[in-house]
This record gives sequence, structure tokens and C-alpha cells, in this order.
Amino acid sequence: MQSYDVFRRTKEKKVSRKEEYEKEYSDSKVGGKSFFPNIIFKDTVAALLVLFAILGLAIFRGAPLEAQADPTNTAYAPRPEWYFLFLFEALKYFPGSLEWVAALGLPIAGIGVLVLLPFLDRSKLRHAFNRPIVTAIGVLSVLGMGYLTYASATAPTIVGAASADQGGKLLPIERAGKAVFQDRRCSVCHNVAGIGGKIGPDLTTVGRRLDATALIKHLKEPQRTGATAAMPDYQFTDPEVLELVSYLLTLKKAPPPMTLAQAGKATFNIFCNTCHPGANAGAGPKISGGEFHRKFATDDALAKLVRGGTTGGMPSFNDTALSDEQLSAIIAYLRTLK
Ligand code: HEC
Ligand code: HEC
Repeated sequence: MQSYDVFRRTKEKKVSRKEEYEKEYSDSKVGGKSFFPNIIFKDTVAALLVLFAILGLAIFRGAPLEAQADPTNTAYAPRPEWYFLFLFEALKYFPGSLEWVAALGLPIAGIGVLVLLPFLDRSKLRHAFNRPIVTAIGVLSVLGMGYLTYASATAPTIVGAASADQGGKLLPIERAGKAVFQDRRCSVCHNVAGIGGKIGPDLTTVGRRLDATALIKHLKEPQRTGATAAMPDYQFTDPEVLELVSYLLTLKKAPPPMTLAQAGKATFNIFCNTCHPGANAGAGPKISGGEFHRKFATDDALAKLVRGGTTGGMPSFNDTALSDEQLSAIIAYLRTLK
């Protein structure tokens, strides 16, 4: 009985609130301010303030740039700005061919709901508590986006997915296994072809070391007694085990060795890049481009300068600091930067 009373009272309250709104609205229509110029003026001021804030941020803070894109770097994990992280994270729930659902479908649905909102939510009551459905949708969306952003920000970046198909194409079951390998982030602990973590053994050539029986056994019971570090027990299903094992068995060849220039670039980055960033001018001069190669026409001349250093600030690198092989690799790399 009492609960009915409460119900009726809130209902009455709502009705009287509604009447209040309508009265207020018609009053303001009679004696109110006109759209032009009053409201337009306020809008203009607000828009200008926002514009100045953005200009100020652009001039005084700027947007930082990352290092120049490097096509040889396979460990780079591209990630969007924080305000797109939720969408980026949502992609993970839509595998492969369904990716468009998250990438296109969700944003279009979201914007569609916003566009249709004035038609969906016809209630004249203003307070959020008086429009429970729309409020619930809004709150849930914001919570969902918040959760996805948090999940994405705290997820460990995949340290390069297993990149080496190591020649040859993969069979569908092997490709499925590779996908499981990437989804379960095995690379966080295992290195494949130079990419990945070091907690577990290097798996670059695991297909040569272990046979199917050993691999199946390991994936089903990873917690071997006496192991120094433990591998998580993923509780894989049988099909997953077969896919993973098929993929792991393809890992037989070491990846093709680096070219001299690639090795040189890696060495350059360790020893020279601080003063000659990307072989451009920094603390030291630019050491790339036609003029530079004319100045040091022979590799010997270049080697001599690096070995001897200069009094003008170029340190000398003797052959304990830099082996002959390392130096010729660096020179081979510099020669590619015409
Ligand atoms: C948290 C770190 C970690 C993760 C993640 C991980 N492993 Fe391991 N893995 C290990 C460790 C540590 C060992 C060595 C344990 C041992 O010998 O008992 C190991 C051993 C292995 C071995 C045996 C290698 C050999 O040479 O004996 C294989 C195969 C393997 N892991 C596959 C996988 C696969 C596939 C995944 C992803 C589903 C995975 N691991 C995820 C830590 C990890
Ligand atoms: C501590 C900073 C520093 C490091 C590290 C460094 N350089 Fe230099 N380098 C310089 C400076 C400064 C000069 C200019 C010297 C001068 O004018 O006498 C220079 C000059 C040179 C030149 C001569 C350029 C010209 O046009 O005359 C070459 C070639 C060169 N560096 C190569 C290298 C290489 C290769 C490495 C890595 C093995 C390296 N440098 C590491 C600071 C450095």
C-alpha cells in the first residue's frame, strides 16, 4: 500500500515538474532573448575561447613527434593516442575478418545514436534521473570506454609478434597457431627470430629441437618440476594445442643473417648516434650526403678518421672499442646514405 503511495507521489511530482517546464518555456518565448544576436554572440565568444585555448596549446606545448619511421624495425608497436585507446582495445574482441565491426560498425553506431538522440529521447523532463534508459545507456557507454582505455593502457605491449614466417607460406593450421601465439602473447617471454622477451627459452629454432610429442606435452603440462622459471598453464583446448604445435614445428631455420649495412646501422646506433643522430648533424657534423662521401672518398680515409679521432671533439675508437668488422659494417652503412 505504502509503496503505491510513493509511486503515486513521484508520479504527481513528475507531472507538476513537467507543467513547470512548459510554463517556463512559454514564458521565455514571450519575453525571452532573440537567437540573433544574443545567443549567436554567446556562441561566438565560447567558440573563440576554445579556439584560443587550442592555438595556445599548439604554440606553447606542441605535439611531440616520435623518431622517424624505420621500416627495418619490426619491434615497433604502433599505438594510437589515449583518446582512441578504447577503440584500439575493442579491436581485440573482434578477430580477423570481424575487425570491421569494431573499426567501422561501433563508431558509426555510436554517432548514429547521438544523431538520433533528439528523436529517441522525447521526454520533456530534464533531470538525468527522470530519463533512466537514456541515462543508463550513457553511463554504461562511458564506463565501457573507461574500462577499455584502462585495459589497453595497462596491457603489456606485445614485444613484436613472431614476425618470421622464415621463408615459405604457412598452412592454415600453422597460421592459426601463429595467431594463438600472438593472441596469448607468448612473445612477452619467448624470442622468435630476434624479437621477443628473454624469460623463456629462445624459440627461433624450437621446431628442430623438440618434436610434436614433446611440444604437446610441454603445452599441456608446462609446469615441469625442477624448472627454474615457470611457464603459465594456459589450459589450451586440444585444437589450440594442435595449431600451436603445427606452428612451432615450422620454426626451424634461423632468420636470414643481417646484411653488412644492417649490422652497421645497429652498431652505429650504439656508438655514433648520440653525436651524429641518424648520420645528421648533432654534437658532431652531418656524415651523410654527397659532399661527405666526396670528402672521404675511400673507406680507408673514413676508417682512419674514426680510429684516430680529431682534436675537434671526434673521439678516437681503437680496435678494442670497435672491432675491424664493426667498423667496416659502420662504413658500409654510411656508404648507403648518399
Ligand atoms: C611468463 C613467461 C612465459 C610465457 C608467457 C610463455 N612461456 Fe613458454 N616458457 C617459459 C619458460 C620459463 C619456459 C622454460 C620452462 C621449462 O623449461 O620448464 C618455457 C618453455 C617453453 C617451451 C619449451 C622450449 C624448450 O626449448 O624447451 C615452449 C615450446 C614454450 N615455452 C612455448 C610457449 C608458448 C607457445 C607460449 C604462448 C602460448 C608460451 N610459451 C608462453 C615462459 C613463458
Ligand atoms: C662524443 C661525440 C661523438 C661520437 C660518439 C662520434 N663522433 Fe664523429 N664527430 C664528432 C665531432 C664533434 C666531429 C667533428 C670533429 C672535428 O671537426 O674535428 C666528428 C666528426 C666525424 C667525422 C668527420 C666528419 C667530417 O666531415 O669531417 C666522421 C666521419 C665521424 N665523426 C664518424 C663517426 C663515427 C663513425 C662514429 C661512431 C663510431 C662517431 N663519429 C662517433 C663527435 C662524435
